[in-house]
Amino acid sequence: MVSDLLDAVRAGSRVPRHVAIVMDGNGRWAEGRGLARHLGHGEGMKAVRESVEASLAAGVEILTLFAFSTQNWKRPEAEVRALMEALRTYARKESAELAASGVEVRVLGEVERLNAASRDAVRHIEEVTGGGSELRLNLMVSYGGREELVRAVRSMARRAGDGLLDPGSIDADLLEGALYTAGLPDPDLLVRTSGEQRISNFMLWQLAYTEIHITATLWPDFDRGDFYAALLDYQRRERRFGEVGTG
Ligand code: IPE
Ligand code: IPE
Ligand code: MG
Repeated sequence: MVSDLLDAVRAGSRVPRHVAIVMDGNGRWAEGRGLARHLGHGEGMKAVRESVEASLAAGVEILTLFAFSTQNWKRPEAEVRALMEALRTYARKESAELAASGVEVRVLGEVERLNAASRDAVRHIEEVTGGGSELRLNLMVSYGGREELVRAVRSMARRAGDGLLDPGSIDADLLEGALYTAGLPDPDLLVRTSGEQRISNFMLWQLAYTEIHITATLWPDFDRGDFYAALLDYQRRERRFGEVGTG
């Protein structure tokens, strides 16, 4: 039972503050049913809802979802269009309920690359949900970890060039502050669906010591039970951060 899983999570040692998810497998989910790939993206929205609700119930503070990568722009135009439409539909249909649940949404990535309608949707969902204090939901859109690091380095170099920053003062904290995720703790847990065992350019800096949970479940099939199972797996891990274990 799903409620038993939630009880087990609550009884466990610690709930991760920050969970990040590579939402993968929409295309295969659709292809497996003889459907066009883009139908899988629409279906994936159900799994987003499940993960948000599970995060609220379990007391996760930050949920970061990889929705569209910088590299995903290279997919066929029709598929890019379907993914952007899924984002707009999500913003239109879910903003009010997210706000009512205290979820604050931020869209992080190269938002300037989106078309006007999608940028409006981003503005809308961020405005309507602003100030929510139960859960911070980061939607990573046109996001790439390498691109994020390049952007951070460029902004520091610009400030150094303008004489506003001493290059000798650049340290990990300063770099962290120049990332899209400035001020947020690193993910404690990374979930990737569809069985793929790779990072795919996601949060390269922030995942340095994150625990990784990979499930074969395709993203549209991922439900709150799967989310709680990932939290339970996390609770069994011993985190070391390069130090000696506690035995
Ligand atoms: C995840 O599903 C959604 C995005 C990457 C945007 P995919 O579209 O990657 O689905 P698969 O991996 O081809 O099955
Ligand atoms: C990663 O999935 C990007 C998102 C989930 C948005 P991809 O499907 O694009 O990654 P690869 O191609 O399998 O590495
Ligand atoms: Mg994929």
